[in-house]
Amino acid sequence: MQKIDQYMHEFLSELNYKPILTMSSKLQGGKKLRSKLLLKIAGKSDISYKICAIIELIHAASLLHDDVIDEAKLRRGAQSINAEFGAKNAIMLGDILYSKAFYELSLIDLKLAKIISNAVVMLSVGELMDVNLSTTFNTDKNAYLKMIYNKTAVLIEASAKCGAILANLNEDDFANYGKNLGLAFQIVDDLLDIKSDEQTLGKPAMNDFKEGKTTLAYIYLYEKLNIQEKEKLKNYHKKELNINEINWIKSKMEEYKIFEQINMDLNIYTNEALNAILKYKMEDLEDIVKSMIEREF
Ligand code: FPP
Ligand code: MG
Repeated sequence: MQKIDQYMHEFLSELNYKPILTMSSKLQGGKKLRSKLLLKIAGKSDISYKICAIIELIHAASLLHDDVIDEAKLRRGAQSINAEFGAKNAIMLGDILYSKAFYELSLIDLKLAKIISNAVVMLSVGELMDVNLSTTFNTDKNAYLKMIYNKTAVLIEASAKCGAILANLNEDDFANYGKNLGLAFQIVDDLLDIKSDEQTLGKPAMNDFKEGKTTLAYIYLYEKLNIQEKEKLKNYHKKELNINEINWIKSKMEEYKIFEQINMDLNIYTNEALNAILKYKMEDLEDIVKSMIEREF
């Protein structure tokens, strides 16, 4: 991971403007899931490290913009860039990170550049879907799945696919692995928002529903509730809730076994991911799936 950080730093240093380094030094490392995947598939090489650095810059840019959109004050346990330096700086740093990433990508390989840049188009469409779905109480599971595929799974799918291309492996198998891992990743992320706490997550808990996001647990819960309870849940949407209201939501989720229902979905996605790469016997990639499901933040 150090090599990747070095490349990210090198790319940004070339821009020769101190505020970029000041702000980007405040970006916390993160899990680097996309890089781990790519390196496990492609193996370690200079080009792999560079592609990883490019993907991490794009991912960081997307989170910078996402935190402005979500007006988030906390990211990875520290103040968000928009909270510390203001939205204007956060937006421009995001623009710089992804444009520099694209410039570097254009110097490397057209095929990889096409895959990654197309993924970023879809990522942006996914974020727009998320924003639009959050304006109302969404109960459409397919709309949710389409949104998380675009917003999150597409870049993970692209990372796995690029890894396969670099290693001369079947790109469709690894893309399928990445896609299903990515879907499971966002579903776990949305579950942790409900089940975990701010200290563990490094960002506020029970925040999605307040932001208007009816993630999978809310969609399933709404299907199960009676008419009065449905109204009650709808009334809690997009509001700052007190502890009793939060506990009511959580107890209803327990009562209707919502987490078990989601675990069944997660099993389907993780099995799809594992089956896609079964014949390659790459234990590290299997471990990534398991640790992603079992993670606490
Ligand atoms: C986090 O979602 C957001 C994303 C995974 C994608 C954000 C994408 C954009 C802002 C499109 C613009 C792209 C670039 C390259 C500038 P979340 O809000 O559910 O997760 P969180 O709880 O961690 O904030
Ligand atoms: Mg967000």
